[in-house]
Formats: sequence, C-alpha cells, structure tokens
Amino acid sequence: MRRMLLTFGLAMAALGVCAQTPAPAAPTSASETAAKPETSLGVKSANVFQLAPGADADANYKDQTNAERGQVQPGNNAPMWRAVGQGVTGYSSLPKSQAPEAGNLIQPFVQYPGSRLASAGESWRQVRNNIIIPYGAALLLIAVGAMALFYVSKGTMELHGQETGRKIERFTPFERSAHWANAIAFCALAISGIVMAYGKFFLLPIMGSTLFGWLTFALKNIHNFAGPLFAVSLVIVFITFVKDNLPSKDDLVWIAKGGGLFSGTEVPSHRFNAGEKVLFWMGVFLLGGIVIASGLVLDMLIPGLIYERGTMQIAHMIHAVATVIMMAMFMGHIYMGTIGMQGAYKAMRTGYVDETWAKEHHELWANDIAAGKIPAQRSPTALPEPTTRSI
Ligand code: HEM
Repeated sequence: MRRMLLTFGLAMAALGVCAQTPAPAAPTSASETAAKPETSLGVKSANVFQLAPGADADANYKDQTNAERGQVQPGNNAPMWRAVGQGVTGYSSLPKSQAPEAGNLIQPFVQYPGSRLASAGESWRQVRNNIIIPYGAALLLIAVGAMALFYVSKGTMELHGQETGRKIERFTPFERSAHWANAIAFCALAISGIVMAYGKFFLLPIMGSTLFGWLTFALKNIHNFAGPLFAVSLVIVFITFVKDNLPSKDDLVWIAKGGGLFSGTEVPSHRFNAGEKVLFWMGVFLLGGIVIASGLVLDMLIPGLIYERGTMQIAHMIHAVATVIMMAMFMGHIYMGTIGMQGAYKAMRTGYVDETWAKEHHELWANDIAAGKIPAQRSPTALPEPTTRSI
C-alpha cells in the first residue's frame, strides 16, 4: 500500500512538471526586450517588477506615449494616467448640451484662491477643507462667543421709562408674515447647512455613520427645498423694508456714536437705526443676493446655464463663504431680536410696541408718529387694547 502511494505521488509530480510551460528567462534590459519581440498572439500576463529594469534610463522615457511605454515596459500605463490626470478631454458621443463633460474624467489643473495648483476637484477640496471649514467654524464660534460676552456684561437692554399702554403698530401682518417665512427658512437652511458642513465632527462620533447618513440625507433635501422659499421670501422682505432702510444723514451720527451701545444712551433714529440698515444692505441685500444666486446654481435651477463641475465648485465656494458670514451677521440680529432687547421680539410677534419703546429706541420715528406724519396704525386691523404687559 505504501509503495502504491509513493508511485502515485511520483507520477503526479511528474505530470505537474510536464504541464508547466518552461518560463522564458526575464529580459534584463530594454534593448533585450526590444530585441526579442513577442511572436505569439494572445494576452500575456507580465510581472511589471521584472520587465525591463532600467527602461527609465532612456532620455525619452518621460515623453513616451502609452504605446511606446508598452513596448519597453509592458503593463506600465503611467503615460495614459498622467494624461488623464492632466484633464485631457477625450471623445464622447453624448451631446455636449446634455453631458458637457462626458469625455473628461479628471478636470484640468487650476489654482483656486488658497489652493495649490492641482486638478480642479483637488483644488476645490483643498479650499473647502483647509480654508472654508476651519475659518468658517472659527468665525461662527467667535460670533457666538462675542454675543455671550456681550450678554454677560450688558444683559438685556431694558426700557428705562414706564410703559404707557398706548401701542404703535411697528409691523403689519404682511410684514411679519414675510419676515417669519424668511426667518424660518433661514433657520432651516442654517441648521441643515451647519450639519452638512460640520456634522461629521460633532454628530458622527455620537450617532454613528448609519444614522448620520440618514440625517444628512434628510437635511440635504430640506436644504434644497428651503432654499427657493428663502429666495422668494427674501425678495419680499427686501421690497417690504427697503423704503425705511434708505440711508439718511442721521445714520452718520448714529454710526459715529456707535449707536450709543457702550455709552448707554441710545442715539435717536428713524424706524430703523443705522445698525439695522447695515444689516439690511450687507446681510439681506448683498450676502442674501450672493447666497441665493449661488444656491440656485447649486440647485441647478438657473435655466440655460451649463452645469459643469467647475461651475459647481465655484458656486459652492462662493455660497459657503457668503453663508458663513451671513450666519455670523444674523446671529447678532437674532440675539438683538430675542434676548438682547426687551420688547423687540414682541414687536415682530404681535406687530405692536409701546410708545415708550418707540421713544427710547427710535426717537425720530416716534416723533414723526406723534406729529401725525406717520400713522400709528397702518394695517386695517384694530389697535389692541391698552396694556402694560411686556416680554
Ligand atoms: C429666528 C430668526 C430671527 C429673529 C428672531 C428675528 C427677529 C427680528 C425682530 C425682533 C425684528 C424687529 C426689529 C425692530 O423692531 O427694529 C426683526 C426685523 C427684521 N429682520 Fe429679523 N429675525 C430673524 C431672522 C431674520 C432673517 C433670517 C432675516 C433676513 C435674512 C431677517 C430680516 C429682518 C429685517 C429686514 C428686519 C427689519 C429691520 C431692518 O430692516 O433692518 N430677520 N427681526
């Protein structure tokens, strides 16, 4: 039995040896490879580590086409991938109008502000991850910190005088609807935007990738739908409040005295003071316009525009920078409109302020109302019963 097994083993070993094709000796130089062209047809595997060592000594090595490289180093596709990485556009039968970049795998090299010269996707990644994300976070944290400091040192700005109980309509129902539609859309956009940009740092570690994935997916869709609502309501807010935000010479006095914020004596102003006007023109008009325009590009809602990757990268960078500045600015507005100033939130919620509030915060406006130049009640709804209750 032992002898049988031994004989069988030897026979199998012999068969194995016979089945192997004798391996050709690996060529040792480029000239040797060139001198012995392959004669047989068919696909052959090759060990790229053994083939043609020293082929790169050729002075033309770096300029070789992929075909030339294949001659001296079969299996080395570096020239092709280098060309792909350079942003070379090949042929695609898809119509340019529908698939403008179908023939191009990797975008050409560009240097976006703050990035190194690299293929556009990589340049954009550098701007986003090295500049927008960290500096944006820093700006937002500084804004939160500044407000916290301000609140701790100053507290809520209370009324100095007694409320009279006589009310002035500060915001009509239409003005309030426009404002709140805009503010709600803004908050939805701000929260979803912050989670999309920064969630992986503070939410992913606590909720795990599955839940975080679903959350960001849901928030991304909320962001995409709240964007157009914000755009429409912002235009309405702009038209509604533009008249009373036009600059006047009293604004210069207000700015020169810093609004009296640190002296404790408020500088007289019309319906909106210079600080509110700066917020209106810088925040609502300028940043709002930039954020909306770039957001509509990212939502692919601008007809006729060719949506290439470069278009999206540029729109994204503009959008992210403008939104971060806008969020920091509006944090100040939300602070002043809630805990920062007694009676401000009530004005935007109910529409009415007390005469004392009007006198103390917008004296010139209150004087115009007292003189009958501006009606105390502008909407057809009846004035509320006199009350001295405040928030
Ligand atoms: C939760 C967020 C917000 C709150 C709590 C809030 C609160 C307020 C309050 C209380 C006022 C009245 C100020 C006064 O009587 O002088 C006001 C005015 C105003 N708000 Fe807001 N707001 C918010 C978000 C926004 C957003 C997102 C925008 C626009 C992007 C905005 C634009 C305005 C404008 C244009 C005015 C009129 C004053 C001016 O023209 O400067 N608000 N807001």
